[in-house]
Amino acid sequence: MGIPNAEILLTRLALLVNMVILETLRLYCPEIARSKEYRGQDANQINPLRFMNGLSQAAKHPNALLAFGTGPRACNGHNFAMLETKTKIYF
Ligand code: HEM
Repeated sequence: MGIPNAEILLTRLALLVNMVILETLRLYCPEIARSKEYRGQDANQINPLRFMNGLSQAAKHPNALLAFGTGPRACNGHNFAMLETKTKIYF
């Protein structure tokens, strides 16, 4: 296995940054996001890798992360806010 090229490294970095933002939102979010029942025993610990298979796989319930709400009145600015946060982190 050689050294991954810059494109692969940047893609991995982008995925990791995404996970860190989601984990930060989870830790400052409604109670269900820290629920041991839904998240497991490490619910109160910082572990961005819990999001490595996507939001819906990160807990026992697919809607456990309520940072942007859920359903028809969920946050309109969800994707914009994620993009804005990533832009601020990168630059
Ligand atoms: C980290 C940033 C943000 C967080 C955590 C956040 C979170 C939320 C939450 C929890 C709701 C209520 C959802 C519900 O009632 O179920 C909401 C609604 C909303 N958000 Fe955000 N928001 C963020 C950024 C933004 C941005 C940047 C915009 C616009 C550019 C935006 C536009 C809206 C709008 C229009 C609603 C009302 C949707 C409706 O009632 O139909 N939000 N947001």
